[in-house]
Amino acid sequence: MNDLVARCTERRDLLPILKEGQSRYGFLPAELLSRLAEALEVPVNDVYGVASFYSFLTLALPGRNTIWMCRCLPCHLKDGRGLLDAVQEQLGVGPGETTVDGCFTLRLTNCIGACDQAPALMVNNDRYGSVIPGRLAEILSRYR
Ligand code: FES
Repeated sequence: MNDLVARCTERRDLLPILKEGQSRYGFLPAELLSRLAEALEVPVNDVYGVASFYSFLTLALPGRNTIWMCRCLPCHLKDGRGLLDAVQEQLGVGPGETTVDGCFTLRLTNCIGACDQAPALMVNNDRYGSVIPGRLAEILSRYR
């Protein structure tokens, strides 16, 4: 962590270092955010604001797998909301939450580049298009 903090000398360093911290720890520990704020001599809320703005940055330790649900218009028009409801029902968690067994974290994100196959979702780095609720159990079973 010390190396990340030491390299954060200007405001423009913040986002790349947050991304590196996310990659290293799997989430952004509160201690890192506090120390980056100290290094930049800004309120810690400023750093939290940046860290919480981007959907691929997380402030809590995620589950072993992350499900990314697209919330953009093309997916919405193809019943993305119904798909999100089905995922929530199957996992018993809402956006930003992790299943009790730690297997899945559910996240909302913007377009994942599969608009032509809406509604779409990703599990970790695997993208699935034209997903109907009836396919969910099979998709999720690959990661249990
Ligand atoms: Fe959903 Fe692009 S809008 S993948």
